[in-house]
Amino acid sequence: MKVLVVGGAGYVGSHVVHEMVSRGYEVEVLDNLSTGYQDLLPPPTLLHVADAYDPACVTPLVRTGEFDAVMHFAALSLVGDSVQNPRRYFETNVAGGLRLIGACLDADVDKFILSSSAAVYGEPTTVPIPEDHPLRPTSPYGSTKVALESALEAYGKAYGLKHFALRYFNAAGAHPSGTCGERHDPETHLIPNILRAALARRPVRVFGVDYPTRDGSAVRDYIHVLDLADAHILALEALASGNPGGALNLGSDVGMSVFEVIAGAKRVTGLDIQVEPAPRRHGDPAVLIADSTRARQALGWCPRYTSIDSIVETAWQWHRREADGSPGG
Ligand code: UFG
Repeated sequence: MKVLVVGGAGYVGSHVVHEMVSRGYEVEVLDNLSTGYQDLLPPPTLLHVADAYDPACVTPLVRTGEFDAVMHFAALSLVGDSVQNPRRYFETNVAGGLRLIGACLDADVDKFILSSSAAVYGEPTTVPIPEDHPLRPTSPYGSTKVALESALEAYGKAYGLKHFALRYFNAAGAHPSGTCGERHDPETHLIPNILRAALARRPVRVFGVDYPTRDGSAVRDYIHVLDLADAHILALEALASGNPGGALNLGSDVGMSVFEVIAGAKRVTGLDIQVEPAPRRHGDPAVLIADSTRARQALGWCPRYTSIDSIVETAWQWHRREADGSPGG
């Protein structure tokens, strides 16, 4: 099967590319390298350095590429930034995403996989969160994912576009080979921030210590990026075998508080990581935990990294290499 991975040089996309290449898929990547990095890709992956949302690039590439499927990871994804700059988010993620999906329709590419997010749910009313929980995003970022999911659902019914929208909870960890991992600038995510703080021997800030949770810090569902990659490949194969597709949560279904993640990082690194209590970040819900029963049943998906220590361990290897400035592998 030949697949175009849009945004494939980013964090989740590059891990999906590694897994697909190692399993024998023919893969091409389209990425403008605005937040992606070519060295995260396994050589000799064919990389088209162009804007995924520019029809002058996308339309001919999709029309002539003879792709069986498109996976779409390219999006602006900072929740706080989306509140400050909603126009940029809607114009990039929604208008641009619709152009990409339209190019697939025009080229008769009939399988599409969208990176979606737990951000579609907003502040949940039930936890664990099933897919049929109301979609009430509390950020423009989450709204852009709902908009693209809605378009895919309608296009599926009207034009037969087979699709999955994969709603990630907290993607974490790195490839155990050291060849790719999480590299964001600025870095906002918890596990990289803990590990960077550990390496720099400075405290990590804990945003919110007064949540109504077991230890006062926010609870999230951390899922290893290679387990996400596995789910993408299973989803692709499911579409090819006639699965009707739809929206699927991808999470471990286990909640970990910020303090519990820090405790895991202490065990893994052997370092004493100091914490600095800080105010809550605007819009951060207290608890987000997936109910990913549907993905497990529909895809036969079974995450392999089931402890926070095993997830943090792979991230730790990656961040130590990054801090050394040495290439992975
Ligand atoms: N946190 C800290 N200190 C940090 C960084 C994060 O205490 O330095 C806390 C956050 O406040 C939050 C938890 O750690 O409670 C996890 O934060 P992340 O930034 O790692 O992840 P989020 O849960 O905020 O974001 C994730 C995805 C987003 C998605 C969002 C849905 O990364 O793409 O869930 O709510 F939109």
